[in-house]
Amino acid sequence: MSRVLLGVNIDHIATVRNARGGRFPCPVEAALVAEANGADGITAHLREDRRHIRDDDIRRLKAEIGTRLNFEMAVTDEMVELACDVKPAYVCLVPEKREELTTEGGLDVIGQFDRVKSATQRLMAEGIEVSLFIDPQTDQLTASRDAGASTVELHTGSYAEGREGIEVLADAMRVGTNLGLVMNAGHGLDLGNVGAVATLPAMHELNIGYAIVARALWIGFGPAVAEMKAAIESAVQASNLRP
Ligand code: PXP
Repeated sequence: MSRVLLGVNIDHIATVRNARGGRFPCPVEAALVAEANGADGITAHLREDRRHIRDDDIRRLKAEIGTRLNFEMAVTDEMVELACDVKPAYVCLVPEKREELTTEGGLDVIGQFDRVKSATQRLMAEGIEVSLFIDPQTDQLTASRDAGASTVELHTGSYAEGREGIEVLADAMRVGTNLGLVMNAGHGLDLGNVGAVATLPAMHELNIGYAIVARALWIGFGPAVAEMKAAIESAVQASNLRP
């Protein structure tokens, strides 16, 4: 299999910054450090309550990073307008509940089909690639394709928490690939569980944040990004050597 890309999610650099309401640690600086240490892209989620990333972070990330910005956002008119203005390379549409600690499940593309389809079309008309963050389920994959998305990101939270086996993700990878979708994955991935996900056939990109930021407390942010990148690469190389 070919190289699997690493998108580094820098939301929790902003969480630490916002704890004191000041200017550091700066998520844009973190993005540049991540890129210098092997990140293939930068992911940031502008939540409706602005609890970590803020509007000006998104604009500065777009202007200052050298790779590409994956802007995670809810399917709301406000966010769609902002994305059309900023024009990131990618938008990842995610579900959002204000009271949740993190994105707890995938987007219900079937249940909100018209809204997701019209946001996808609007964003794609601006030249933005659209990815839908969904649970690894056949009906959600089919609806994502029907909504016009080129890419999906499989929610790996259930796998990471041991509630679902890797075969659920493997099945979804097969279905999605057959539908012609580009297949990404993320949520809850860490050094211990990333290898099995990285080596699923046709995996394109993994988006990882929390485990890298937590690990950075002990070894530094740049080394934590490089370590995750090396873990992905060595798992992929080992699987290529297997008969
Ligand atoms: N991908 C998406 C769509 C997410 O919402 C998140 C969490 O914000 C991640 C990836 C990264 O998850 P984690 O921080 O658990 O690595």
